[in-house]
Amino acid sequence: MSERGERISKRSADDGSPPSLEISGLAYAYPDGHQALYGVDLTVGRDERVAVLGPNGAGKTTLVLQLNGVLKPGAGVVRVAGLEVAKPHLQEIRRRVGVVFQDPDDQLFMPTVRDDVAFGPANLGVRGAELDARVAGALAQVGMAAYADRPPHHLSFGQRRRVAVATVLAMQPEILVLDEPTSNLDPASRRELSEVLLDLDITILMVTHDLPYALELCPRSVVLSGGVIVADGPTRRILCDDALMRAHRLELPFGFDPGPGGYASRLTGERAD
Ligand SMILES: Nc1ncnc2c1ncn2[C@@H]1O[C@H](COP(=O)(O)OP(=O)(O)OP(=O)(O)O)[C@@H](O)[C@H]1O
Ligand SMILES: [Mg+2]
Repeated sequence: MSERGERISKRSADDGSPPSLEISGLAYAYPDGHQALYGVDLTVGRDERVAVLGPNGAGKTTLVLQLNGVLKPGAGVVRVAGLEVAKPHLQEIRRRVGVVFQDPDDQLFMPTVRDDVAFGPANLGVRGAELDARVAGALAQVGMAAYADRPPHHLSFGQRRRVAVATVLAMQPEILVLDEPTSNLDPASRRELSEVLLDLDITILMVTHDLPYALELCPRSVVLSGGVIVADGPTRRILCDDALMRAHRLELPFGFDPGPGGYASRLTGERAD
């Protein structure tokens, strides 16, 4: 049986349209000379959900910041739905790619939660009742409707992360990129976010250290380590590869068995046989 929520990349397979994401030969050094990415190749099909795993300092956030043009490649190309992530297309790219940053404080800067969630869609020209509905819908999805009038900086870290997710959901992006979406979420919020993400019929690239979450949400994972992709395959196979996991400082939580018959399989409805 397939993993929970697994889908075949329908559109790119059927209609010949370009994949959601095509990264080839992507290298990047920060202005101080620190080389963070050494040549990343990654293709993500439409409606795929892919986890990006890897130790601290691997280059995951650097990769995320390339996807909507916050950082510019030193070498190589990033394409979103066939469009190169480069100056002339940045507005269109940012409409299509919603990025939830690792630090919610990089995303929230308005006087109220409502203003922050409205900011993106309002910039795209959404107004009036439709804007109100987008804001209310996105806040409801993350369980923060009651906080619409609060200043974001008065919220807890976990609440700010939920609002940061809402700012991106309100944009109704085609591709959702999340950088450690579960850090600082309590278990119920973590589960609720997984339900929201599983319901979205869009491409998702999710950076996470939360390996059970990767297994639950993403049929495919890649491991980024030392600025290169060192593994790409079914999430369960990656998590069960002890040598790979050890080599790249990936560790499962105590007692978590990702293999068939383990807790994860009961969660996803798989059977051991
Ligand atoms: N602004 C910067 N200037 C110079 N070097 C940087 C900068 N930001 C990150 N780096 C370096 O680039 C490398 C990759 O950093 P990055 O933030 O992409 O790692 P990461 O995989 O997201 O790690 P984490 O799991 O801790 O979030 C690290 O060695 C880091 O020290
Ligand atoms: Mg990071």
